Amino acid sequence: MKIRLLLATLTCALVAVTNVHAQAPAQKRQFETPLGDQMAKMSDALKALKGQAADASKNADSLKLIGTIRDAANASMKLDPAKKADIPAADQAKFVESYHEGLKNLVAQVGKVEAALKANDNAGAAKLLDEVDAAQKAGHKEYKQKKQKKA
Ligand code: HEM
Repeated sequence: MKIRLLLATLTCALVAVTNVHAQAPAQKRQFETPLGDQMAKMSDALKALKGQAADASKNADSLKLIGTIRDAANASMKLDPAKKADIPAADQAKFVESYHEGLKNLVAQVGKVEAALKANDNAGAAKLLDEVDAAQKAGHKEYKQKKQKKA
């Protein structure tokens, strides 16, 4: 009987620990939205790209990372920022249109990095990533809520 109780306690403890670990990455996310998911994809790819853009031996992989960023940016065009809900109804269409412009600018900057990589200009590609950072910064300043509202 005691052994059964011990086994049950151990099982509960194991389940609790497993759950904490399963939830851990999600807790780091601020924007639990479909758009946040696309942004997280861009973020992971951009981080990897920054680490290897200067290395010509990684160009094939770097071009794949560019593709990931572009795909996520295009997918983001179909999703509205959470901040739209804070904008007066009459201004929302303009807000979304200008958000699309921000994403198009990002795609354009990423295209420049792609062209540099294809030309094997790795120093140029690494430098052009500053423009990608600038597009991100500008996009977040205008279209990201300061803090996500609690549901
Ligand atoms: C490569 C460039 C970019 C990267 C790496 C990036 C990364 C991120 C990350 C990590 C988040 C937080 C996601 C989360 O907490 O779950 C985020 C959120 C967000 N980003 Fe970006 N971002 C980029 C460019 C842009 C651009 C250009 C715009 C707008 C034109 C934009 C608009 C937003 C918005 C609106 C959110 C909040 C999500 C929501 O409202 O649901 N981002 N981004």
